[in-house]
Amino acid sequence: MLSPERFLSDLHALRQFGAQGTGVVRPAYSDPDIEARDWLAQRMSAAGLTPRFDAMGNLFGLAEGPSLLLGSHSDSQPAGGWLDGALGVVAALEVARAARETGGPAISVVSFQDEEGRFGVTTGSAVWSGGLSLVEADALRDHNGVLLSDARHAFGERVGGEVDPAQFTGFIELHIEQGPTLDACDEQIGVVCDIVGIRDRVVTLRGQQNHAGTTPMALRRDAFQGLSAFNTALNDRLRNVVTRQSVWTIGHVSISPNASSIVPGEVRFSMQWRDGDAARLDRMQQVIEAVLSEIVQDMGLEVELGPLLGLDPVAMDPRLRARLEAGAEAVAPGKWRMMPSGALHDATNVARRMPVAMLFVPSINGISHAFEEDTREADLVAGLRVLAHAAGVQG
Ligand code: GLV
Ligand code: MN
Ligand code: MN
Repeated sequence: MLSPERFLSDLHALRQFGAQGTGVVRPAYSDPDIEARDWLAQRMSAAGLTPRFDAMGNLFGLAEGPSLLLGSHSDSQPAGGWLDGALGVVAALEVARAARETGGPAISVVSFQDEEGRFGVTTGSAVWSGGLSLVEADALRDHNGVLLSDARHAFGERVGGEVDPAQFTGFIELHIEQGPTLDACDEQIGVVCDIVGIRDRVVTLRGQQNHAGTTPMALRRDAFQGLSAFNTALNDRLRNVVTRQSVWTIGHVSISPNASSIVPGEVRFSMQWRDGDAARLDRMQQVIEAVLSEIVQDMGLEVELGPLLGLDPVAMDPRLRARLEAGAEAVAPGKWRMMPSGALHDATNVARRMPVAMLFVPSINGISHAFEEDTREADLVAGLRVLAHAAGVQG
């Protein structure tokens, strides 16, 4: 039988790996990430599933024969919440376990690697689904210059054979909403209609490193001033192109040499933008590139653009979505809605290989990618029950 107590107990056990305050620090391939995956592999075995790590460190708990795949990811942001990804993995484990105990359908479980993009954009599921080759992935570097090909060696002997996506009949991912809608409307379940698209690239501006006391303002080629001017101009110029659903973020900045008395010679920053419409993502890209080239000309800087990473928007599979809608109406009648996902998910990649669907539970005050991230227990359990319902497992 589906056990909310066992599910909550496992969820709190996973929270201990990389725990910091109320959140977790468990980036892909870090020691806590690997320890958490080893623990999950043991829980999968105990549930009668066969654990298997692939070359990226994606962890599968396999049922025999064709099966429905459930799961999410167990890596975290560098300062992340305890439920982002973990909820979907642990709920999948509980549903698979209950299915085996009750003679239900074959259910497999997955925790994808590097969903949070230490190296790219949802890197583990991108490679598994064929969206990115392992050779391309291996050349990606994190913000500290570490190569993915080096980081993934941490899995060493654990790596088994590859896992063929053809053995799965579909994929369902339970996740926290990570936004304000469900909480503000006092609803328990969001059935996702589509997931936004994303573009992400590293930009480097180069000027002239120089003395901060003696270099006249008019003669400076200050890379940080370039970023500052770019950001202000971009916010203005994007207004003609975007809707209220469009978002853009400069979330990581590194200034060189980062000293009070030196005019910065170089600044490297992440430029990320998201929208539900692929054509608008392209228009946003044109604006970003145009503003950058104007700024570097005006300020005597040079620009280097890193590889453009990204995923297009995807729609969820109508048949699997209908199963989630029926589950939502059974578990939370009148307290659910259809909604798009503004966050990115492994489901986007998996959609290349099989039908996919997603459901959300509320995030308190809409906070996520922060230690304060949380969800009421009753909502976590409602999400588990809807997932089980959609998977055809007794609740
Ligand atoms: C994934 O966490 C994202 O950035 O949306
Ligand atoms: Mn996530
Ligand atoms: Mn996340």
